[in-house]
Amino acid sequence: MSEAEGAIPARLPLRSDLIGEKPYGAPQLDVPVCLNVNENPYEPDPDVVQSIAARVAQIAHTLNRYPDREHVALRRAFSRYLASESAVALPVDQLWGANGSNEIMLQLFQAFGGPGRTALGCDPTYSMYPEYARDTFTTWKLAHRRPDFTLDVKATIMAIEKYQPSMVLITSPNNPTGTTLAMEDLETLLAVCDTAPVAGAGADAHPVLIVDEAYVEFRDPGTPSAVSLLAGHDNLAVSRTMSKAFAFAGARVGYVAASRGIIDSLRIVRMPYHLSAITQAAALAAFEHTDDQLRQVAHLRETRERTARWLARQTYRGTPLQVAPSASNFLLFGGSFDDRNRIFDELLARGVLIRVVGPEGWLRVCMGTDEEMERFREALVQVLRVVE
Ligand SMILES: Cc1ncc(COP(=O)(O)O)c(C=O)c1O
Repeated sequence: MSEAEGAIPARLPLRSDLIGEKPYGAPQLDVPVCLNVNENPYEPDPDVVQSIAARVAQIAHTLNRYPDREHVALRRAFSRYLASESAVALPVDQLWGANGSNEIMLQLFQAFGGPGRTALGCDPTYSMYPEYARDTFTTWKLAHRRPDFTLDVKATIMAIEKYQPSMVLITSPNNPTGTTLAMEDLETLLAVCDTAPVAGAGADAHPVLIVDEAYVEFRDPGTPSAVSLLAGHDNLAVSRTMSKAFAFAGARVGYVAASRGIIDSLRIVRMPYHLSAITQAAALAAFEHTDDQLRQVAHLRETRERTARWLARQTYRGTPLQVAPSASNFLLFGGSFDDRNRIFDELLARGVLIRVVGPEGWLRVCMGTDEEMERFREALVQVLRVVE
């Protein structure tokens, strides 16, 4: 279907704050090398494909019935996964799944945002957050990261005091920069959120701190995840996804680990049967092959490090490219591109799709297969010569 957008006819009573808005999303183009949406480029192994097909076939005869709206079997699988991946044991009532972490985040906004409420993010960061805020009538405010994209803890605390948000969102590793949040900084912010007041809420309420860990499996081995702090903090929510390292973006499965109170809040706002029986079956099958699904993560990490070193050796108009240190499966590079759209277009003309995102002067590239990265490098060398 064409993505061309017509104006919404004036006779349709579209919400006035949505007039002129465009649907969010990176271009979905049919090009040889797609490095623009931070997917895992490796397809599932044939035995994983077979398990998914078998699991879905098993439940197909039940499709006249609604699915388990509490998706208990899948929440058990999340629990087993976090126990092995992050060495944190969580009961089912501290876990919750949805159609991608996009839906998790929307449910968090539906439960804790809303009219009269403010959500605070730390930019540059994931560009969907303002959309969740808009869609839930939540005011969106920003604390700015430092020039090297690390979190400015002091500025963030000042913003918490100034805006009195009900939600504080921190992405780690951050998109589009790849920057991680230090555990001591997270602990500092959790302590602030433990007592900070919330505008538009009762006197006893304090902000929920949400750590979006969509890319966390790409972090350096041995680095703790925010889930390790859940035990002492009932105002912490850690959002995860199967879309990235787990190579399952097409299935749309995200989840959140949090206190029981936060999970029960999400259960109030969720759609009655939000996770289809097919989605649940497919995700259970994928978790049976966790090692296979994650097999390429170490290789993608190496690809990232190799690509970062290579990019830092390239020059744009005589100046070496900057590369933001990344713990994710993508790199933000450039820093001094005075016409990044031209570089994007020239790469696209050579069959390589990356992303114009983040601060002016930068571009983001996601790690592909070895062959795709070779195509990217060849194309970028040519483009940097053309734009000299
Ligand atoms: C930081 C971050 N959070 C969440 C998501 C959403 O992922 P999904 O809805 O596929 O789980 C993305 C996707 O790119 C992301 O970059």
